[in-house]
Amino acid sequence: MSGPILVFDSGVGGLSVAAALRQRLPRAALAYVCDNAMLPYGTKPDAWLVARIADVCCAAVAASGASALVVACNTASTLALRELRARLSIPVIGTVPAIKPAARATRSATFGLLATSATVRRPYTDTLIRDFAAHCRIIRVAADTLVVQAERKLRGERVDIVEIDRELAPFWVVGELDTVVLGCTHFPLLRDELNACAPRPITWIDSGDAIARRVESVVTSIEHASETGPAWASAPGPALTKALKAHGFDSPQILQALSAPLPLE
Ligand code: DGL
Repeated sequence: MSGPILVFDSGVGGLSVAAALRQRLPRAALAYVCDNAMLPYGTKPDAWLVARIADVCCAAVAASGASALVVACNTASTLALRELRARLSIPVIGTVPAIKPAARATRSATFGLLATSATVRRPYTDTLIRDFAAHCRIIRVAADTLVVQAERKLRGERVDIVEIDRELAPFWVVGELDTVVLGCTHFPLLRDELNACAPRPITWIDSGDAIARRVESVVTSIEHASETGPAWASAPGPALTKALKAHGFDSPQILQALSAPLPLE
């Protein structure tokens, strides 16, 4: 099946995954879709999210003619992969927190999980921890404000380093902690700021390359990239265009054919 590999996220976080895909599959055509009208996802109710994610992804797959969908969002993947696979006939590759690599990387059997408030409490995350890191002590930190900070950074706005520092503080009181899982695709975009806040060397682990490897093994025929990839958004605008352009995507088109979102209580 031909067609681009469609990368989906609530906002610009999926660009960290798109960068890993471009590194591993430099000639593959990529397309991007984000539901930035409804950002952040990490604070929304589960039932609302499942319906919305399925709606956005189905509309974007139809618009792009994608041959595969990469759900470049931990908050969406830990909740909605089953629904997406049931609704779509193309391969769906998810992004889940890199618990297994972190359990291997830590030398003190103590690591952090930095993610959205939805991802840190999901049963999917509990299962990953039980299966791959039962012997480790894990400090879970929900940091939804970092999603907003990463969005600001990619739009060329000022990042609030004091706020980032405050969010990370629970990690530093645990002296043995040597590794942190970046369990939200927005967070690798803040790697410089995260390093600047760390009082000691920390191994930050994201899922980007693991996803790219998975895509490489799943996608059998790859459509070749043209200069830039098409993009769709639920709320296109100049700031988003700037961020997407810097990552090799066209100005986003409005994503048509979306149902009205369910009411949020
Ligand atoms: N980038 C998304 C993730 O990986 C979440 C951002 C949001 O809360 O919207 O979880």
